[in-house]
Amino acid sequence: MSDRDARFVRAVGKVGNPETALPDYLERTYWWAYLRPASIRIFDHKVIVSAILWGQYRRLSDIVLTRIAGGNRVLQLACVYGDLSQRLARQVGPEGALDIVDVAPIQIANILRKLVGMDWVRASVADATTTRSGSFDCVLSFFLLHEMPDPLKRRVVDAALAAVAPGGRAMFVDYACPLRWHPLRPVMAAVFALLEPYATAMWHTPIAALASHPQEFSWTRETRFAGLFQVVIAERFNV
Ligand SMILES: C[S@@+](CC[C@H](N)C(=O)[O-])C[C@H]1O[C@@H](n2cnc3c(N)ncnc32)[C@H](O)[C@@H]1O
Repeated sequence: MSDRDARFVRAVGKVGNPETALPDYLERTYWWAYLRPASIRIFDHKVIVSAILWGQYRRLSDIVLTRIAGGNRVLQLACVYGDLSQRLARQVGPEGALDIVDVAPIQIANILRKLVGMDWVRASVADATTTRSGSFDCVLSFFLLHEMPDPLKRRVVDAALAAVAPGGRAMFVDYACPLRWHPLRPVMAAVFALLEPYATAMWHTPIAALASHPQEFSWTRETRFAGLFQVVIAERFNV
């Protein structure tokens, strides 16, 4: 292990939460993407994330950011490679708050490293399926659902919705079913079959259908890039 990795592993030890176990699916399916220092060295670059999302990372991030105002309280469910969290933090500003949770201590250590000096940001090791009080103006799930087994997708959607304050919204940005003629349709089907076993469900299951109490929200859904990506927004009725 290099000195740099050893320092990083020590930092990870400090943010670890012994009560939060790594889910089996994460270790089994995505160890190479998220759980090793080399994963972060290789993947945590805007250009890489952008390539993985076929050049749409900035565009999808912008859609999220235009719906967040200065002073908002935002909950981000799971870390994201690239600069989305830094942009979210700048957007809410010191008048607001950004809470980031991730089940992997190594990801929390990494995000803290990227957000040094922004003391209105909190990042902690926790499972996205944990229910939190409904005090957030915005709850964001950015490409998390497709990486989870189906029963956990439901739990994350419910947990995200439960955390939304009256008048606030949950935003789910993820894969969707590309149009039939989409040249990347067979490519994505192959990628999912090979590397992302829980992702194909996003082609067939509407996100709103994963919610236990969808009637408490007004739902909108837009797709991008000929259907390959979806942005679903659930706005809690202000009653
Ligand atoms: C948001 S997803 C995918 C993001 C996107 N592919 C990217 O560009 O980084 C990746 C993160 O989800 C986290 N994660 C997976 N399952 C989780 C869970 N149950 N609770 C919290 N975080 C979870 C992983 O540790 C990882 O950091």
